[in-house]
Amino acid sequence: MHVLKKRGWELPDSAATPENLFIERRRLVKALAAGPVLLAAPALIAGCDGDAPKGTANAAVTKADPSAGLYPVKRNLRYRVDRSITSEKSATTYNNFYEFGSHKSIHRAAQALSIRPWTVRIDGMVEKPFDIAIDDLLKKMPLEERVYRLRCVEAWAMTVPWSGFPLKALVDLAKPLSGAKYLRMETFKDPDVALGQRQHWYPWPYVEGLTIKEAVNELAFIATGLYGKPIRKQNGAPLRLVVPWKYGFKSIKSLVRLSFTDKRPMTFWEAIAAREYGFWANVNPEVPHPRWSQARERLLDSGKKVPTRIYNGYGEFVAGLYKGMDGEALFK
Ligand code: MTE
Repeated sequence: MHVLKKRGWELPDSAATPENLFIERRRLVKALAAGPVLLAAPALIAGCDGDAPKGTANAAVTKADPSAGLYPVKRNLRYRVDRSITSEKSATTYNNFYEFGSHKSIHRAAQALSIRPWTVRIDGMVEKPFDIAIDDLLKKMPLEERVYRLRCVEAWAMTVPWSGFPLKALVDLAKPLSGAKYLRMETFKDPDVALGQRQHWYPWPYVEGLTIKEAVNELAFIATGLYGKPIRKQNGAPLRLVVPWKYGFKSIKSLVRLSFTDKRPMTFWEAIAAREYGFWANVNPEVPHPRWSQARERLLDSGKKVPTRIYNGYGEFVAGLYKGMDGEALFK
């Protein structure tokens, strides 16, 4: 996401943001006004040399992942793609994970994240809130592999084999109440490990949201593996959302909490720049980002530019979700 480097960044007019976020935004605006020297500083604070903090990274890397024996899992051939699969190297070394730095080479820094023990909290409008440990969750869920395209709002794209389970299976386990309309999802917050989270002008933790209808759509997927192995830390271990018809920023990584609610959640990027990274964020070549075209996308590996497809090519599965709603808004 190009927030810190661009000059055309504007705050949305609406004042629907909590006061603390406004204060943080004002700091960001001040930083932007101060020019490139100051703007470079947060990148350094975030450990953007790609190195993990000393003493933690190696221990975390060498600890065996207890879920390793679960993979590979059977590929579900219902979800076909007309593109070649991106190399594992590109998909695991060219990442967005702002918790570890606001650039693409966070893969080493992300090794500082400890993914065991890892507990997910299910709460809000559910029959009974509960916590579940990742390995208990994995035992309950129907694992399969799906090859999906992923289209980042920054206009690059990849095609990768995720392993995991339909988000619907987790929604069913949660037993939401009938009044719940949205699912709010939250990433861990630990600035000691994720040095990007020391950039206090961002509204940490990273939050994303879907309507319940979107969450139970058959495409919505929770990835726990990638390329037939447990998912790497830089890709959102131990569990992340994958919603392939939406821009990549909706696919929130390293989830710790899922809350059912009747209010539309304020998401991380919406709080920062609602005009640029809105709640719906459905892929559409016809609706440009305020600062660049979305008509084409660059494929990782080849660098080839190809036309962007509406709903990232998944219209047959999801277009029905948005019938009768204001078309333009759904792509913001
Ligand atoms: N989730 C969290 N918690 N933090 C992030 O910075 N970046 C998003 C998304 N999920 C992000 C996140 C963006 S902008 C994209 S494009 C994808 O993750 C990138 O996923 P990848 O690194 O596995 O390709």
